[in-house]
Amino acid sequence: MVKLDFTNIFKVGDNGLTKAEFKSTRKILSSYLDKIEKRKQGFYSVIDDASVVSKVEQFAKGQKGKFTSIVVLGIGGSALGTICLAQSLKHLYENEISKRSFPKLYVLDNIDPVMMKEVLDVVDLKKTLFLVVTKSGSTPEILAQYFYFRKLTDGKKLDALKHFVFITHPKVGLLRKIANEDGITAFDVPENVGGRFSVLTVVGLLPAALIGINIKNLFKGAQEMRDSFLNRNFDKNLPFQLAVVQYLLAKKGKNINVMMPYAQKLIRFSDWFRQLLAESIGKAKDSDGKTVNVGITPINALGVTDQHSQNQLYSEGPNDKLFIFLRVKKLGASIIIPLLSSDASVSYLKNTSFNNLIDVEYQGTAQALTQNKRPNLNITIDQIDETHLAQLFMLFEGAIAFLGEFFNINAFDQPGVELSKNLTKKILLAQ
Ligand code: PA5
Repeated sequence: MVKLDFTNIFKVGDNGLTKAEFKSTRKILSSYLDKIEKRKQGFYSVIDDASVVSKVEQFAKGQKGKFTSIVVLGIGGSALGTICLAQSLKHLYENEISKRSFPKLYVLDNIDPVMMKEVLDVVDLKKTLFLVVTKSGSTPEILAQYFYFRKLTDGKKLDALKHFVFITHPKVGLLRKIANEDGITAFDVPENVGGRFSVLTVVGLLPAALIGINIKNLFKGAQEMRDSFLNRNFDKNLPFQLAVVQYLLAKKGKNINVMMPYAQKLIRFSDWFRQLLAESIGKAKDSDGKTVNVGITPINALGVTDQHSQNQLYSEGPNDKLFIFLRVKKLGASIIIPLLSSDASVSYLKNTSFNNLIDVEYQGTAQALTQNKRPNLNITIDQIDETHLAQLFMLFEGAIAFLGEFFNINAFDQPGVELSKNLTKKILLAQ
């Protein structure tokens, strides 16, 4: 199970928390869980529906050997979870591996025409399955992409029923209408799961299964953390503890969260987290309709890479951040560093490994931040696999649900995104 270490939050004086402040919140945990339950969100219950896993696995089995590429057309919550799953759980250079058991995956979460054109240089349309993912079924970017690729495949006389699969709202939206009219296979996104909470629905599960990720284990890990999320005992509720630290520190002016994994494969976890935190907590109105303009700004960083990019700012710049480090006990490879010089200046590399070096660099960074009175915490997993990654997804989703209650806002809507979507359409119509 994921481990949370708040030691350095308690070591930075007024810039952090006292243990008493941290624990003072234990009395509100139960009432916040009641409030969350009243919001009727499905992100923590859909992971009990084993029929989804069977359906997705069966579909993926049926596609085996038919395609060399999967192209996902989706954006925001319809893309970031999939990108994270692939980046974390597959080979770092997966698409470059020549002897393959599974198709290559391309996620087109932008509408830059260069991307649309250049992907055609690496996929063979005859051997490509397009997953069109949009919960609303009406996101202009994704509809535009669908029309573009559909015209191309139609032009090559390819059967749309074989080359397109939709993942969308069970009832509403243009995509659902097209699915019904054209007979295209369409999987349902549960109505009560918002886009950025949907990685463990068919939105993430289907592309994952198609590229050989064990989706049963994703559910297993998520269920373990969900049980912690629903636990009314403060000491056992990790998502609540995390939210407490994020909230109380935001109240003390640390309203920027830097997510910094010390594992190359988790680089995209930060992108997934960035959307989850930004869209869920950045809100104008509270639940009573009062204007509050709250939010916590997420920043992505990667250990050790960004020690040589952002660390100067983090150590000496404004003390307005909470640092969330992700650590992995057993990285997927173990390499001893060969010491090829007897020069005393590199003697510290004697008898050590890249594994030790990366961890010691984390320790150095965390200690430096602590000495500079910068609050930081670490979240450690044993290894990067389906179970642990899903625990992380559920840890942060649960924490966000609690944060919403702390800020007294609805963490599950996104009126700001909707507004810009509608204005884009209006401008296009007026052209
Ligand atoms: O979290 C959200 O709801 C959004 O970020 C959506 O995922 C994003 O706007 C894409 O929406 P849709 O899946 O409806 O195309």
